[in-house]
Amino acid sequence: MSENILVIGACGQLGTELVEELRKIYGDSHVIASDIRQSDDEVFKNGPFETLDILDKNNFSALLQKYKPSQVYHLAALLSATAEAKPKLGWTLNMDGLFNVLDAAVDFKIGKIYWPSSIAVFGPNTPMNDTPQNCVMDPNTVYGISKLAGERYCEYYFQKRGVDVRSLRYPGLIGYKSAPGGGTTDYAVSIYHDALTTKKHECFLGPQTQLPMLYMPDALKATLDIMHAPAEKIKIRSSYNLAGMSFSPEEIAANIKSFIPDFEISYKVDHRQAIADSWPNSINDTEARNDWGWAPSYDLNSMSKDMLVNLAPRYGQSLSI
Ligand code: SER
Repeated sequence: MSENILVIGACGQLGTELVEELRKIYGDSHVIASDIRQSDDEVFKNGPFETLDILDKNNFSALLQKYKPSQVYHLAALLSATAEAKPKLGWTLNMDGLFNVLDAAVDFKIGKIYWPSSIAVFGPNTPMNDTPQNCVMDPNTVYGISKLAGERYCEYYFQKRGVDVRSLRYPGLIGYKSAPGGGTTDYAVSIYHDALTTKKHECFLGPQTQLPMLYMPDALKATLDIMHAPAEKIKIRSSYNLAGMSFSPEEIAANIKSFIPDFEISYKVDHRQAIADSWPNSINDTEARNDWGWAPSYDLNSMSKDMLVNLAPRYGQSLSI
């Protein structure tokens, strides 16, 4: 295959792993990683890397002219906690960045666009359990408001401008290869690192805060599956609900303890609790399952095993569990 794929925001938690997967499929030289910052992750040494601030339209146009990508994955955004701290930048980056990509899709006739949405589109009046695709959506965070507005614009550009844009409402993403940044669900990554090092985790969410989560291999599969599905199967052009598992800090801690018996969790709740409290406990992803065959592979226990076994060597340990 000789088409070029551009990944914007490639150095983030999802981008780092997605670039690696896309390079396996399309070839190293056909997947152009771009980000406002540099990363020393090995994956970026294997193919083209371009510095790109997605708010810089001229630089973005030059990149599109140079590589003529047939697909763009637009991942650059401020996540929930960071966008609360920097609300103006959160809105500008999340919205204007998306507009620049959607407008470029029209102007440069880009074949397909991927843009991530989030469970943050839901809010305090959303049904909390088994949250359906369509329901009350009253996000009360800058991040959630930008994602919900972004979803509406994705559907608008599909209907009015014919842009083939595809999107998933990710739960919290958990993986061992790359670090998250600025999210409310990030504790569920650092807890595994802490379990292998200090054996203590101080959690910024309370013990019973249930949140929807997804293990990275499942997130990558969902992302590639929706992008590779025939266009007629993608019936939702705002963004699809997507579910993997749901758990609370005390549940993930108990699960980790079953592998590392002297692990202990403690709690020091901060401002992120209010963000978590406004989000659902669990998600109904019937449409994704029916329309393009989504099914997750990992639950909490299989994810914990995989995380711990793969992280252990980083800390000079080997675990056989
Ligand atoms: N993981 C994200 C966050 O916590 C939610 O999309 O901000």
